[in-house]
Amino acid sequence: VKIGVLISGGGTNLQSIIDNIKTGNINGEIKLIISNKEAAYGLTRGKESGIESIYISRKRFDSEEDYNSKLIEEFKKRDVELIVLAGYLKVLSKEFIHEFKNRIINIHPSLIPSFCGKGYYGENVHKEVLNYGVKITGATVHFVDEGTDTGPIILQESIEVESFDTIDTLKAKVLEVEHKILVQGVKLYCENRLSIEGRKVIIN
Ligand code: GRF
Repeated sequence: VKIGVLISGGGTNLQSIIDNIKTGNINGEIKLIISNKEAAYGLTRGKESGIESIYISRKRFDSEEDYNSKLIEEFKKRDVELIVLAGYLKVLSKEFIHEFKNRIINIHPSLIPSFCGKGYYGENVHKEVLNYGVKITGATVHFVDEGTDTGPIILQESIEVESFDTIDTLKAKVLEVEHKILVQGVKLYCENRLSIEGRKVIIN
């Protein structure tokens, strides 16, 4: 399966996919990595693995729609079939979501539907988790639909929130889970083992 990846930051989730393609665990090929942030270390990770990795500035475009049209164009040019959002912090346009309907996978650092939606990304997810005092948190891999973090759930895995946890210790523990379930989710997709029935994802 030809994969396109969108990133905004360090790219540790991207790296886990790259590593698992190299070992043959994921039957896929990353054709293009696009970042909306020029300094995203994930671009370096891609280049180090010989993957075409480009920065596309939002400022070059008049609107979110035009920016997303450019993203679509670049991915289609390389026959990308699956889009993976690996720490991508922008919202996709309706056109993008329709263009790649049921072929966009996102990783979110909480157990959706808790601590998700607008404003819940990166560290402030973990800050809210600590503030609320929940005893478990975790990560979710899901298909992207028109909402924010609302699409059909593919995989989830939980971890315990311990009394001594801080944002940093929680972030580190959750990131490990993210790497594990994102790789598994992409692997299952590439093996054509995922089907969607309404809101439910069936793993065959
Ligand atoms: C992390 O906060 C992760 O929870 C979320 O995106 C951020 C960066 O991840 N998915 P990465 O290291 O860039 O993959």
